[in-house]
Amino acid sequence: MTEPIIRTIDLVKRFGTQTVLDGVNLEIMPGETMVVMGGSGCGKSTFLRHLIGSLTPTSGRVELFGSDLASLDEDGMDDVRKRFGILFQSGALFNSMTIAENVALPLHEHTVLDPNIIDIQVKIKLELVGLREHASKYPSQISGGMKKRAGLARALSLDPRILFYDEPSAGLDPVTSAEIDQLMLDLTRKLGVTSVVVTHEMDSAFTIADRMCMLDKGKVLMVGTRDEFDHLRSISEKEAESLDDTRKLIRQFLRGDPEGPITQRRIETSYAEDLLGTGPPRVVKSPALEPTRKT
Ligand SMILES: Nc1ncnc2c1ncn2[C@@H]1O[C@H](COP(=O)(O)OP(=O)(O)O)[C@@H](O)[C@H]1O
Ligand SMILES: [Mg+2]
Repeated sequence: MTEPIIRTIDLVKRFGTQTVLDGVNLEIMPGETMVVMGGSGCGKSTFLRHLIGSLTPTSGRVELFGSDLASLDEDGMDDVRKRFGILFQSGALFNSMTIAENVALPLHEHTVLDPNIIDIQVKIKLELVGLREHASKYPSQISGGMKKRAGLARALSLDPRILFYDEPSAGLDPVTSAEIDQLMLDLTRKLGVTSVVVTHEMDSAFTIADRMCMLDKGKVLMVGTRDEFDHLRSISEKEAESLDDTRKLIRQFLRGDPEGPITQRRIETSYAEDLLGTGPPRVVKSPALEPTRKT
């Protein structure tokens, strides 16, 4: 039987008194694209940062390639780091370097390859993301979508087995965002990498996922295939009445419906906070939304 390439076991993370991850168990298999979804602030980026070893769990475990990250020394962790690539929200390119130099950087840092070989490697990566003819441009000279592509080429520079993406389509227009989705699909097919993608963009999630995982309040509400989530999303209003509360909540999230258990919970929470005086200061409604008395 194939072993998971990534596994979290009872992963808990607290920041002070706030529990952000509350016992997350998830297995990701080699070659699959797992999309992790959930509302803003539910802990998606925190979860991802545990997978790459940049945060340590309060309790529980993270395993990559079969090793418990906590058991690795600095060298061991470096070896693991070379086997995954990361594309973070900002793309995080160095503005003083050309696109080619940005992509070459990890190769200079982590390998002893001859500069000519590095040049060839860089060209191959830039070709993969469709940027070969822009190699000598600086980040300020290219569009947001191209920056994401360049970030992706850099994430690919060491031929990783796993790619981590945090909100890859954030800040992009719908067409560019759809292009990035296609590129991610294309790369998965060509390179056979395992991908973990954090997003709250449902169109993107349903385009790229093999399996999906829904996080809420630090817990996994549901893990399933894309078809299972798609089925839940397309259940009619009438059929949805017989779903349990969790499924109702997931369905609202997937559909982006303006009304449902998520909205209800928000209203109740802010009411409770209001009563206890623990919530944020009440937002003064804009006058345009107040009923105007016509006299
Ligand atoms: N380093 C940190 N220190 C304290 N709180 C944090 C830290 N990182 C994240 N948080 C809190 O954890 C919660 C989840 O954040 P995050 O994982 O960024 O959510 P998401 O990516 O789902 O929007 C938020 O309430 C955030 O304020
Ligand atoms: Mg985030």
